[in-house]
Amino acid sequence: MAGRSHLRSVKRIAILASGSGSNAQRLIEHFAGSAGAQVVLVGCDQPAAGVLQRAWDLGVPSYLFNAADLRNGTVQRELQALRIDLVVLAGFLRLIPADLVNAFPERIVNIHPALLPKFGGKGMYGHNVHHAVIAAGEQESGITIHYVNERYDEGEHLFQATCPVLPGDTPDTLAARIHALEHAHYPAVVEKLVRALPPTP
Ligand code: GRF
Repeated sequence: MAGRSHLRSVKRIAILASGSGSNAQRLIEHFAGSAGAQVVLVGCDQPAAGVLQRAWDLGVPSYLFNAADLRNGTVQRELQALRIDLVVLAGFLRLIPADLVNAFPERIVNIHPALLPKFGGKGMYGHNVHHAVIAAGEQESGITIHYVNERYDEGEHLFQATCPVLPGDTPDTLAARIHALEHAHYPAVVEKLVRALPPTP
């Protein structure tokens, strides 16, 4: 049916987030103007996360779940029922279980606020990362966009961009520079990926 195949040519993105959601907002806004893909769901594991308000304000349905839902396959079934093509992690703090990784091969991506493989792994999120980068005396930091596997921050790298670490930087000032880099690049990298995907059957 012509109408139906037209609908399926619009790729369906789900964002998973745990925090403020500034990257989620940029992604939603970017794809609101796109004919090829839409953010159709914001999944969140934290009832008080700012991302829920942002999703509401932008008219994107949200889905609140807990750690057990993620582990026992409930989240996976929800994403499959919605025929999600690409899962985009944007400040999502939980480990993605192997079953979910396997259900979405090369269809889950994450953004990390440092130049992996340095400054990644369990506990390396938010200001912990920027604090460690400054404490190590690095002169450069940046962002890494990568496929997700069942280990924290270890999937294949898709994109990196760098920025300087300046004398006198605090975790706050470095975080602001990194966020600007994330907002500038994440939507475009996700768009390139989603365009190249074959449609989900
Ligand atoms: C970003 O720095 C991202 O790299 C990391 O978590 C942060 C989320 O920020 N994974 P926000 O919630 O998108 O503002």
